[in-house]
Amino acid sequence: MTFHEQAGTMWLDGEFIQNEAAHISLLTHTLHYGVGVFEGVRCYQTEKGPAIFRLKEHTERLLNSARILKMAIPYEETLLNQIQCDIINHNKLTSAYIRPMVFYGSDYLGLQTKALQCRVMIAAWKWGSYFNADTQGIKVHTSSFIRHHSNSVLCKAKANGNYINSIMALQEANDQGCDEALMLDHQGLVAEGSSANVFIVRNGKLYTPNRKSILEGITRATVMTIARDEGIEVVETDLTRDELYIASEIFFTGTAAEITPVAEIDGRSLSKGTMTQFLQQRYQAIVQGKEKKYQDWLTVI
Ligand code: PDD
Repeated sequence: MTFHEQAGTMWLDGEFIQNEAAHISLLTHTLHYGVGVFEGVRCYQTEKGPAIFRLKEHTERLLNSARILKMAIPYEETLLNQIQCDIINHNKLTSAYIRPMVFYGSDYLGLQTKALQCRVMIAAWKWGSYFNADTQGIKVHTSSFIRHHSNSVLCKAKANGNYINSIMALQEANDQGCDEALMLDHQGLVAEGSSANVFIVRNGKLYTPNRKSILEGITRATVMTIARDEGIEVVETDLTRDELYIASEIFFTGTAAEITPVAEIDGRSLSKGTMTQFLQQRYQAIVQGKEKKYQDWLTVI
């Protein structure tokens, strides 16, 4: 079964369709120019059944991303939330990855966008762990590609075209035998991974880059809340690459990546530490609905 076939029932512009009917024109604007926004959302199997983690925050970010790019989504937030639940049921999924995406249609090809139709698709498929690395952690390469400046392609929008930057960095990291790239911003300060935010541990404190050059990760916010609720100090600050070289622990956070420890960065190895392990265990307990305190983060379907 191809990946496309796995996606089964999808939703396009207000209707549920089968993947074999999911066709769009070769002249679709977003296919040519990359102006579109999307989300990566995870559904987890819990004791109460499938549940989507922080659905509200993801859909809010989708709407914010569209607002940043001045794309007028023709559907309400409540409907988008409901369809993401329905798509799980339609495909009888439990642990899954949901992909809402807003894109411009094939009304015409040009750089003007005013008269373009804003289209919305939502698909979901079974998804396991993102990095196929062993549990000790991944190998990371500091990229020669810098994270785009927030006045060039607007880092707070999870925009399709922004991922050229990420994919170039990840390809380079993979070519170096690594699993993920660490991207620096235009000032040479640490920004984030190709598709995840980054944290380090030093002297019992958690540090993470401030928000100026990164996508505001929902998993990043989750980890900061969990840590602070446990009395762990979390500092958002400028980080330099050599602070990662002397950190006791490094991990990435993302919907796909969840909490992924780093075992090596630019040839310098480090072990998965106790703070990373603690946060991983708490995170997994929360997404599986075992922590009453954070039940509100789960939308049980
Ligand atoms: N995105 N930074 C970038 C550039 C990302 O693409 C992602 C996640 C993150 C983490 O954001 P969040 O915790 O909200 O997922 C940070 C991929 C597509 C994903 O994990 O689904």
